[in-house]
Amino acid sequence: MAYRTIIEPFQIRSVDPLRFTTRADREAALRTAGHNLFNLDADDVLIDLLTDSGTGAMSTEQWAALMRGDESYAGARSFRRFESAVGDLTGMEHVIPTHQGRAAERILFGELARPGTVVPNNTHFDTTRANVEVTGAEARDLVCPEGRDLRSEEPFKGNLDAEALERTITQVGSGAVPLVMVTITNNSGGGQPVSMANLRAVRAVCDRHGIPLFLDACRFAENAWFVIQREEGYADAHPRDVAREAFGLADGCTISLKKDGLGNIGGLLAMRDADLAERCRTQLILTEGFPTYGGLAGRDLDALAQGLAEVTDPAYLRYRVRTAEYLADAAEAAGVPTVRPPGGHAVYLDAGALLDHIPAQQLPAQALACALYLEGGVRGVEIGTLMFGRPSPDAVDTPAPHELVRLALPRRVYTQSHVDYVAEVIDAVARRADQLRGYHIVWQPRWLRHFTARLEPVAS
Ligand code: F0G
Repeated sequence: MAYRTIIEPFQIRSVDPLRFTTRADREAALRTAGHNLFNLDADDVLIDLLTDSGTGAMSTEQWAALMRGDESYAGARSFRRFESAVGDLTGMEHVIPTHQGRAAERILFGELARPGTVVPNNTHFDTTRANVEVTGAEARDLVCPEGRDLRSEEPFKGNLDAEALERTITQVGSGAVPLVMVTITNNSGGGQPVSMANLRAVRAVCDRHGIPLFLDACRFAENAWFVIQREEGYADAHPRDVAREAFGLADGCTISLKKDGLGNIGGLLAMRDADLAERCRTQLILTEGFPTYGGLAGRDLDALAQGLAEVTDPAYLRYRVRTAEYLADAAEAAGVPTVRPPGGHAVYLDAGALLDHIPAQQLPAQALACALYLEGGVRGVEIGTLMFGRPSPDAVDTPAPHELVRLALPRRVYTQSHVDYVAEVIDAVARRADQLRGYHIVWQPRWLRHFTARLEPVAS
């Protein structure tokens, strides 16, 4: 008998109490935070959906693995276990640990990108883009056209447009494209998956031009699960084999292990090219540490090796992806449009559609994010004009293409009743959407303003 309820595939052994606040507490906390949810104390948040990065719960086996950690500076047993776990998954010979994903990006692009070169990706994540641009290279997003349409139900909206890639390479010359990257799943494009057929098509373009293909594979297991659900020929495959096949199509990868590594910290850079690996290791020693720990403790490496073994469990992935779908369905039922179909790690609420009375310059997605916090202590993140708008000299921002609020789901942390509660909060906010007001920025730094900017509600 198939039951309708997909239960959390774990039981809870250690609990962390939540701290309840009143609306008055939250109003005061939000004022002190300059109406920027990044400035809140986590203690003032009830359900924290700011990110799925590093916020997951470790398993009993991971906690046990911590105790096996070998803290030798060089050649630790923990590194050998980590290297073998990554090798088993990716088939890549050279495994370089880093403290998190962006450190791997900095080292990789530092070695390969130069001014005048172009790095294509389906959609660069912010840190990936920044690490490309800091070298003087151009980060170019080539996601497929469906990927730009929030409401399209296409199954693989994370795909990279292989024809656009071919055109880009022909236009700039293969010598000016040091690598092609594909982000699985496509976080900045709504957590949408990439099909195996698309990876093969991109691989073929790279082969024609002699360009290496790297994956930004933070959410490789969620991507594998979507392939099994949606792509012909994979219905009976195991997520681990699908993930191996994806890595098998690439020359290398960067991974933030704070996502599908099921770790609270960690990242890696892996590749097949021995010469490039040697150059990257030299860079690693400068800022991260010796190549067998790369800025992590031995115990972290052990917990990550265990996490990489656990994350491809079909029962876990079924629950994981279903949770996002369940929350997205609830938001839609409350009249809040979401990015369709739901991604694996997060639900993206379309604040631009819900709050069409608030112009982009008054930050509708920030208005929705603040309202969710004030209503029920739920913290999401604005992905709109506060994050991606371009400030201009006349002080009128160029708006971002979309006004979204991302509700990212930490791994194995919240239960279905927490998610039901979040759905009720969304519903309550949606009922008085027409009363919400926008915000304006009263202080902002020169770069990455969304992290620290201070805002005020616009006068009614
Ligand atoms: N690539 C992708 C696709 C990511 O989502 C992230 C992080 C990174 C690279 C960088 O990894 O944080 O370990 O340095 N995403 C987090 C998020 C921060 O909230 O989506 P990192």
